Amino acid sequence: MPSLRTLLEAIRGYRISQCIYIAAKLGIADLLKDGEQNCDVLATATNTNKDAIYRLLRALASVGIFAETQPHYFQLTPLAAYLQSNVPNSLKAYAIMLGEEHYQTWGNIMHSVQTGENAFENLYGMNFYEFFEQNSASAKTFDLAMTNLSGIANFSILAAYNFSSIGKLVDIGGGNGGLLSSILEAYPTITGVLFDRPDVIDRSSNLLETIGVRNRLELTKGDFFKNVPVGGDAYMLQHIIHNWGDEQAIAILQKCYQAMINRGLLLVIEIVIPPANEPSAGKFMDINMLAMCPGGRERTESEYRKLLKKAGFKLTKIVPTESEVSIIEAVKDKI
Ligand SMILES: C[S@@+](CC[C@H](N)C(=O)[O-])C[C@H]1O[C@@H](n2cnc3c(N)ncnc32)[C@H](O)[C@@H]1O
Repeated sequence: MPSLRTLLEAIRGYRISQCIYIAAKLGIADLLKDGEQNCDVLATATNTNKDAIYRLLRALASVGIFAETQPHYFQLTPLAAYLQSNVPNSLKAYAIMLGEEHYQTWGNIMHSVQTGENAFENLYGMNFYEFFEQNSASAKTFDLAMTNLSGIANFSILAAYNFSSIGKLVDIGGGNGGLLSSILEAYPTITGVLFDRPDVIDRSSNLLETIGVRNRLELTKGDFFKNVPVGGDAYMLQHIIHNWGDEQAIAILQKCYQAMINRGLLLVIEIVIPPANEPSAGKFMDINMLAMCPGGRERTESEYRKLLKKAGFKLTKIVPTESEVSIIEAVKDKI
């Protein structure tokens, strides 16, 4: 009964993701970076119960994440290796982020489905960004998780899109500046402005201090509902528009419109929802947006076209990438 098995696996999916979260949070993969280790040693290093940590790792090993090499000894596998810190394509912070407030919020998702409202706010009594202002550890994990994800997407974005016509590129809500720095590294003639909330820029400035392109990168603090840096010839928004309902999304896009010079170039980097039954990670990301962000949603091509038009832009092309995201390119409709 293969279809029944598929359904059972889907029903139980959270069990695997929560075990991955615990392993990531405890830093198990980092403890195994030099080779296999005994569970008792891992339990002592992580201040956990010896029997329980063994059972956790045995369960993960059954799905290819860690491997038991001899009784009670575990080592990394290719999948577990991505749960280490500071490795290319690390997903450690992302696994931690999804296991904490995201997981609690998904536990409250019935609220969103019944009311259309935000499950996060219903659970925590404040929105996502207010929560981060009060919880710096969660905010740091979020920034790192975004860097994890964009680290994977950056390469595919650079491979898919030619940025060479751009002189000054403004990254709106650019977070840690991972994508912008990669673009500046690949294009030595581009100067960049990283724009984000003050607390995010404060954290990013330390991280960016040592990068090779720092002399071409300006950091600007602000609120994109009030003002964005003026004078850029291209404005990039990666994973920004999907956080907001149409009214707020249009308001952000209009701020970009007002700030850009000449015809302007707008690059909205998001998952574009494909029609009907086509599989897409974006369709569950959309549920995540419903639960986590007030008004947040993933959009189809025609929804993006309409949204951009309302903000004064004309969608010129959608460039798919090897990763989940596409680059939605637009220019000012009339100048
Ligand atoms: C989902 S993250 C995306 C970060 C980055 N663009 C990326 O793809 O990794 C959304 C970003 O929007 C920023 N943001 C949220 N509200 C903002 C506001 N009112 N003004 C400026 N930035 C804001 C957040 O601080 C965060 O860095």
